[in-house]
Amino acid sequence: MGNEEERSAPTVSRRSFVLRAVIGVFTSLGALVMAVPFLRVVFNAAPLRKAEWAEAANISILPEGQPKDVKFEAHSVDAYLRQMKLRSVWVIKHSPEIFSVFSPICPHLGCYYKWDPSTQHFECPCHGSVFTITGKVIGGPAPRPLDTLPYKVQGGKLFVKWERFQVGIPQKVRV
Ligand code: FES
Repeated sequence: MGNEEERSAPTVSRRSFVLRAVIGVFTSLGALVMAVPFLRVVFNAAPLRKAEWAEAANISILPEGQPKDVKFEAHSVDAYLRQMKLRSVWVIKHSPEIFSVFSPICPHLGCYYKWDPSTQHFECPCHGSVFTITGKVIGGPAPRPLDTLPYKVQGGKLFVKWERFQVGIPQKVRV
């Protein structure tokens, strides 16, 4: 009887050691996974927001040579969250293949600007920035031209990649 107890003692101890090691490994992995978003913020890693192509409009309905406010739904992937959001962009069709696509956000402090057909300018109601049809600043405090967005034409449709940029600075920097 005493001999059996002596023989079984090391087995229990080995099992408990393996169990503790397995728990330790899983705990460390869990902590690592939870720390990734925090580490990204701390070390200012690449943005977690990913731009995706979204179908914005049928190109046959877009007028040629005049800005059109185009609204469409696009997926937004922010960190681990994927959502459908309504977006809007200013589109100018120069030809069936050539477009200008502008973000609707004023590069000064982020207000939504409008196209004024009477002046043929984009005008921001917040602090009076004025832009030409090509996006160039001709008045007000905007520090850079209107931000263009990537686009492609496929099967008679215009696809746009929705992106946001930092406001208030002369450079176009994605956020
Ligand atoms: S936000 Fe447009 S001019 Fe200030």
